[in-house]
Amino acid sequence: MNIFLPPPYNILYARRLHKTVRRLVPDSDVRFLLSESGSGKGAALVTAVAYRLAEQHRQIEETLEEFQLSKEQLLEVKKRMRIEMEAGLRKKTHQSAKVKMLPTFVRSTPDGSENGDFLALDLGGTNFRVLLVKIRSGKRRMVEMHNKIYAIPVDVMQGTGEELFDHIVHCISDFLDYMGIKGARLPMGFTFSFPCVQTSLDAGMLLTWTKGFKATDCEGEDVVLLLREGIKRREEFELDVVAVVNDTVGTMMTCAYEDPNCEIGLIVGTGSNACYMEETKNIEMVEGDKGRMCVNMEWGAFGDNGCLDEIRTVYDKAVDELSLNSGKQRYEKMISGMYLGEIVRNILIDFTKRGFLFRGHISEALKTRSIFETKFLSQIESDRLALLQVRVILQQLGLDGTCDDSIIVKQVCGAVSKRAAQLCGAGMAAVVDKIRENRGLDHLDITVGVDGTLYKLHPHFSKIMHQTVKDLAPKCDVTFLLSEDGSGKGAALITAVACRLREAEQS
Ligand code: BGC
Repeated sequence: MNIFLPPPYNILYARRLHKTVRRLVPDSDVRFLLSESGSGKGAALVTAVAYRLAEQHRQIEETLEEFQLSKEQLLEVKKRMRIEMEAGLRKKTHQSAKVKMLPTFVRSTPDGSENGDFLALDLGGTNFRVLLVKIRSGKRRMVEMHNKIYAIPVDVMQGTGEELFDHIVHCISDFLDYMGIKGARLPMGFTFSFPCVQTSLDAGMLLTWTKGFKATDCEGEDVVLLLREGIKRREEFELDVVAVVNDTVGTMMTCAYEDPNCEIGLIVGTGSNACYMEETKNIEMVEGDKGRMCVNMEWGAFGDNGCLDEIRTVYDKAVDELSLNSGKQRYEKMISGMYLGEIVRNILIDFTKRGFLFRGHISEALKTRSIFETKFLSQIESDRLALLQVRVILQQLGLDGTCDDSIIVKQVCGAVSKRAAQLCGAGMAAVVDKIRENRGLDHLDITVGVDGTLYKLHPHFSKIMHQTVKDLAPKCDVTFLLSEDGSGKGAALITAVACRLREAEQS
C-alpha cells in the first residue's frame, strides 16, 4: 500500500509515524510517498473524474432516452396498428398486409356445456407439452389436466420437418404409454403457436416459422397433415386431430370458460401475439356476415413494412439482423422475452465499447447470445433485490462488474422492458377500441386472457402495460385475467365444441 503525505514533512515526525504504523500492522507492507502540491493536483483530478462521470452519465441518459416514448408516439403506434389491422381484414389488401388477421374458425367462446376426454399438444412456447384434459359439464363442471413436458433440442427445431414431427410423435407415444391410454383414440387439439392460414378448424398452413424454429419443408405445408403423416410413419397408434389452435386463441378460450366477458387473448412470452372476437362481416377472407369469429392477429409482424422504423433504435436493428428471421416480426422483437435480453445485451456491448461499463472489457459472457433470459431480466429488475444481489446475478452470468456497473445494467433493463410494456399496451389499446367501435359503444367492458413468461415473471411489465391501455383507450375498461395452463386447456375446449358440433351434424 502507498500512503501519500503532504508537506511540510518533518523527518523525526516521519520516522515515528512509519514505526508506529509498522508496529500496528506488521503483516502489511506500507510505503510512504511524498506528495508535491498534492491538494491542488488532487482537486483537479477529482474534478476531472467527476467531469468524466457526468459526461458518461449524460451519454448513457441520451442513449436510453431513445427508449422513452411520449404519449403522442404511443398514440401514433396505436393508430398505425389499427391501420394494419384493417389492411389484414380486407380482401384487397390482405395479401400484402403484414398483420395478417388470420381467421381461426372459432366462432364462439365456451358455454360450460363442453364435455369429454381430450388430448392436447402444445408446441411453440417455452416448453413442448402433451396433455390429457378431462372436461366435465353441468353441476360437476370442472377441468382436470395431466401433462408431461418434453424438450425439443435445438437441432430438432432447426433440422428437417420430418425429424421435428417424428420427435413430436415419439413424445405423444411416450405420453400415451405413461397415461396408459394408447388404444383410446382420443380427439386431439393441436396448439401450434406460429402463423397459420386456416381454411377450416382442422387445417393450418404454416406461413413462416417464428421464434427459435426453422425446420425445413414445413412452411407452406398444412401442419395437421404433417402431424398425421408422422403418426402414420410410426404405425403405432391412431389419433383424431380435430383442431389446430394458436396459443392466443387457447388462452382466450381458457379464460372465457371462467369469465364470459373474455373475448381477447394475449401472449407475452417467448413471442408475442393477440387474438380477439371480430365481427364475421369485417373478415373479408371468410364467407358469411353473421356472428363473430376469433381472429389470430399475428401482431408480432407489425412494423415489417417499415411503419415502426421511426422508433426502432440501432439496437433493435442489430437484434433483428442477428436473428434467424431477419426483417420479420419486428414488433415482437421489441416486446417479447426471446428478444428483450438481446436488446439489453447489445446496449451493454455498446456501453462497454464506449468505456462506460466493465472497465471497457467485453467478456466472453457478453458475447454470448441469449444470456439474458426472461427470468434474469425479471430478477435484475426486482425492487426487492439490493444492488449487491444484482451484482451477484451478473457474476453468475459471467459478467464481473462493480456496483456502479450493476446500477447501469439495471437502468438499461428498465428502459428496455418499460418500452416493451408500453408498446404492447399501445397495440392492445388499438384492439379494444376497435371492438368498442365494432359494437357502436361509447364504453366497453372487456376481459383479456393473458399468458406468457414475460407477463407472468416480470415485476413491472403487467402494471405498465395495463396503465398504457388505460391511458390510450380511456373509453374501455379492460380487465386482465391470467390464464393458468391456457393454451393446452383451450385447445381441448375448442376440440370439445368441435366434437359436439360434429356429432350433432352426424345425427
Ligand atoms: C407467433 C404467434 C404466437 C406468438 C406467441 C409468435 O412468434 O407467430 O403465432 O401466438 O409467437 O407464442
